[in-house]
Amino acid sequence: MNKPALPSRLDIIEVGLRDGIQNEAAFVPTETKIRLLDALIDAGVRRFEATSFVSPRAVPQLKDAAEVLTGVKRRPGVILGVLAPNRKGVERALAAEVDEVAVFLSASESHNLKNLNRSVARSLEDVREAASLVRGSGVLLKGAIATAFGCPFEGDISLDRIEQIAGCFAESGFDSLTLGDTTGMATPPVVRATVERLQARLPQLKLNLHFHNTRGIGLVNLMEGLSLGVTSYESSLAGIGGCPFAPGATGNICTEDTVHLMQQLGIETGIDLDKLSAVAREMERVLGRQLPGQVMRAGPRLRLYPLEEQAAAVG
Ligand code: COA
Ligand code: ZN
Repeated sequence: MNKPALPSRLDIIEVGLRDGIQNEAAFVPTETKIRLLDALIDAGVRRFEATSFVSPRAVPQLKDAAEVLTGVKRRPGVILGVLAPNRKGVERALAAEVDEVAVFLSASESHNLKNLNRSVARSLEDVREAASLVRGSGVLLKGAIATAFGCPFEGDISLDRIEQIAGCFAESGFDSLTLGDTTGMATPPVVRATVERLQARLPQLKLNLHFHNTRGIGLVNLMEGLSLGVTSYESSLAGIGGCPFAPGATGNICTEDTVHLMQQLGIETGIDLDKLSAVAREMERVLGRQLPGQVMRAGPRLRLYPLEEQAAAVG
């Protein structure tokens, strides 16, 4: 079978100010969040999960969601999206004039219970209710299925289950659906089987892939997604991230590392790597520790060093 050619363009959805910091214990001041989002827009990022409208008791770091959205400079072509799990979240998001609402649940019962305090069936009712609130408002509707490639409590999730849940999003008129690899359990064969199943059965759903680099294969999974024709990926500035309600969760695939790889493949992202790397280093300063991103430290592949400054191995 012929593999489809790699696409000429890849869409990045930056989730650093949502997934990225939701697990950070120290509160990042609202004005700092706004400054980082503005800087990311200046670097050419056009799609965001900028924050979450969830319970502030569950995720205190994102309790300032409305203020963040008020503060960010709105620009044409920039899609400021947010995560919202239920009616209250969607109402708060619409009041904050977001461009996109991402309604989410987990594929596994155990993780959904930990993350959203309800069964998957109950969450699917919330998904339908949320969709009915958003539909017709002009705001984009994105669905998201967490633990889509495996659950840290239950292991593999059956393809039938993913298809059934994805089918509910499709019936409710969602514009796109994110498959989330919450604790980095995806591998290329799992990605292939899942994506091929949904492409075959629910071709109307545009897919976004959301990988975590927990086991060092995040970008390998992205390459597998690209070879399957998926062109939209969620990634996080400096490679931070992780769900507070999933054991072993670590950072998302790193946005700068992804942009650098795409440059090497001749795939356009619209993002300026130097500017983006500067924002990633700023995020390191804000969080006060070394973060997982690699290209912000190493520089692009052809970064060259002065020869005379390198010590020689004189035997
Ligand atoms: N935004 C703000 N507050 C919310 C809310 C929302 N979207 N949804 C519920 N609440 C408030 C309710 O108003 C209520 O407040 P009160 O006690 O002051 O009246 C309280 O939270 C409890 O509401 P309830 O519907 O019973 O929620 P719950 O306790 O069963 O928790 C969720 C359910 C979904 C709100 C909570 O589990 C949650 O926010 N999870 C998000 C987890 C997350 O973001 N994980 C990371 C992303 S993968
Ligand atoms: Zn995630």
